[in-house]
Amino acid sequence: MGVKRIAILTGGGDCPGLNGVLRAVVRSATREHGIEVIGVQDGFEGLAVTPARVRRLDVGDVRGLLPRGGTILGTSNRANPFAFPVKSRGRVLLKDVSRTIIRRLRTLGVDALVVVGGDGSLSIAHEMGKLGVRVVGVPKTIDNDLSATDVTFGFDTAVATAVDALDKLHTTAESHHRVMILEVMGRNAGWIALHAGVAGGADVILLPEFPYDIRRVVAKIAERARHNCHFSIIVVAEGAFPAGGRVKTRKSAVGALARLVGAGERVATELRGLHGGESRVTVLGHVQRGGSPSSFDRVLSTRFGAAAVDAVVRERFGTMVALCGAAIETVPLADAVGVQKRVDTSTELLRVAQAIGIEVGAITRR
Ligand code: F6P
Repeated sequence: MGVKRIAILTGGGDCPGLNGVLRAVVRSATREHGIEVIGVQDGFEGLAVTPARVRRLDVGDVRGLLPRGGTILGTSNRANPFAFPVKSRGRVLLKDVSRTIIRRLRTLGVDALVVVGGDGSLSIAHEMGKLGVRVVGVPKTIDNDLSATDVTFGFDTAVATAVDALDKLHTTAESHHRVMILEVMGRNAGWIALHAGVAGGADVILLPEFPYDIRRVVAKIAERARHNCHFSIIVVAEGAFPAGGRVKTRKSAVGALARLVGAGERVATELRGLHGGESRVTVLGHVQRGGSPSSFDRVLSTRFGAAAVDAVVRERFGTMVALCGAAIETVPLADAVGVQKRVDTSTELLRVAQAIGIEVGAITRR
């Protein structure tokens, strides 16, 4: 059965480049293949509610989208069809609405669904695929923690934002002889911290993958002081924590992941009294998710969008488009969602960081 109409949704946290995917999907589907595109608003939520929040997307609707951050469709990080929050008598209950969504797609005449998302949304896509939905995934996340693709779009822009912050922190750190701590996102993966730290000339990078010993950080600050550098730049991943400790979290809305909080402030507290100077903390937060995508992310999101349509046309359902080396390929969704990609001792950039004298707060042996 050929494909005449596809639906597309963006799920999970937003990131720069989502609009680039939408633009490429709409342009390639309509121009190349004569396929109609339906945009679903706010992730799976748009298909779970009554009436469904969907709208047709034509080439005119995606005009001028390439430089625009966010997603014109909206997104949600708690619209899991298998545990969908529903209010009942003042309480929020989690209900399985997956069958409702499948019926919806049928009523809308949707032949295939393109899901643009991270680990969470792609896992849902995989489960929906098992129930018979013809689905193709597109990987996105600033965290770059999906194992089946070399890179996700959004990551490059987030790193650039963090590097810009580090460049600015450098000058004020040096002027005031301070230790400047920059907390960056990434959840349980240290990719943003590692790349931004190396590109931004950090002295210390603390990663979720290697619980740190604060004494190593203090030793690094002291070593710099001996070389007449009375300031230091520390990049702390939001998921970093001291050896023997745990990451701190705060409860989120029902259905959403817990928020990681306070990693940078904790390092500042631990440093207090242990070195001669002052420490200040900047939490970069959602700034990393916003703004205009870098040229790399614009190109990657465009390639992914066109490849997703190609996968639909070739009926390669149950797959995700991925960057493998220089090529865009399709990989089984099952492989894409199974394992999280994290920094480890074989990560070349980690070894480079250490080789040039960046302290990672822990002994890392292969
Ligand atoms: O997964 C992307 C991400 O930005 C993480 O780096 C961060 O921990 C999380 O989302 C924040 O999510 P929220 O916007 O729900 O606070």
